[in-house]
Amino acid sequence: MSTPHINANKGDFAKIVLMAGDPLRAKWIAETFLVDAKIVTEIRGMFGYTGHTKSGKLVSVMGSGMGMPSIGIYSYELFSEFDVEAIIRIGTCGSYQKSIHVGDVIIAQGACTDSNWMHEYELNGTYSALGSFDLLLAAYEGSKELNKNAHVGNILSADIFYNKRPDIWTKWAELGVLGVEMESYALYANAAYLGKKALGIFTVSDSFHHEPMLTPEQRQLGLTNMVEIALSVVEKLY
Ligand code: HPA
Repeated sequence: MSTPHINANKGDFAKIVLMAGDPLRAKWIAETFLVDAKIVTEIRGMFGYTGHTKSGKLVSVMGSGMGMPSIGIYSYELFSEFDVEAIIRIGTCGSYQKSIHVGDVIIAQGACTDSNWMHEYELNGTYSALGSFDLLLAAYEGSKELNKNAHVGNILSADIFYNKRPDIWTKWAELGVLGVEMESYALYANAAYLGKKALGIFTVSDSFHHEPMLTPEQRQLGLTNMVEIALSVVEKLY
C-alpha cells in the first residue's frame, strides 16, 4: 500500500524513524550506522531505509527534503499510513547565539516559526510547537552518557533562507532562540495533531556571529554526534 509520496508497504517502517533533510545523508546513515539496512521507498529520490541498531533495535531512516511543506508531507504519511510512532529529525541549523559554535549539537525543546502553518487549524492564538518530552529526556540523557554536550532550547523554523531583512534574526536571538532551520515546527505540529512523538536534533553548520564554516572533519564529527544521540533514543525507548 503506497501513499502519494512513499512507495512502501505497511510494516516496512520501524516505529521510530530518523529523518535527515538530505536523502543522501539518510543513505549514508543507513550504510554507516545500521545493520542489514534495506531500502523501503525511493519515490523522487527521497530514500528511506529500515534496519537495526547494533543492539538489534528496529529503526528506519529517511530523507525529508528541505522546508516545512516537504517534511510536512512525508511526516504526515509516515505517521498516518505507516504506523510510525516517533520521528526524530536529524539536520543542520544556523546558530543565533555567540555561545553556540559550529559543530555543536542543539536539541529543540520547542520551535517558533514565521510560517502560516497553524493558520490551517483556525486557532485564536499562537500555537507553541513542542518536542516530545519522552524523546527529549532520552536524547538529553543519551548525550550526557555519550559525553557529547548538547544545547537544549527553542529554535526557529523559518520559511525563508535568503532573507530580505538580513538582521531580522537578532530579534529571535534576543528572545533566547538558539538557532534556525526550516522544518521542525511542521513536524512538531503534525505529531501533535496526529497524537505522535517528534523531536529535532541538529548539528550547527553555520553561525550568525561570523564564525568560519565547519571544516569537513568538524562537520563529520558533528553529524556523527547528532546521529549517535538520536540512536541512543532508539536504544532507550524502542
Ligand atoms: N538558515 C536556515 N536553515 C538552516 C541554516 C540557516 O542558516 N543553516 C542550516 N539550516
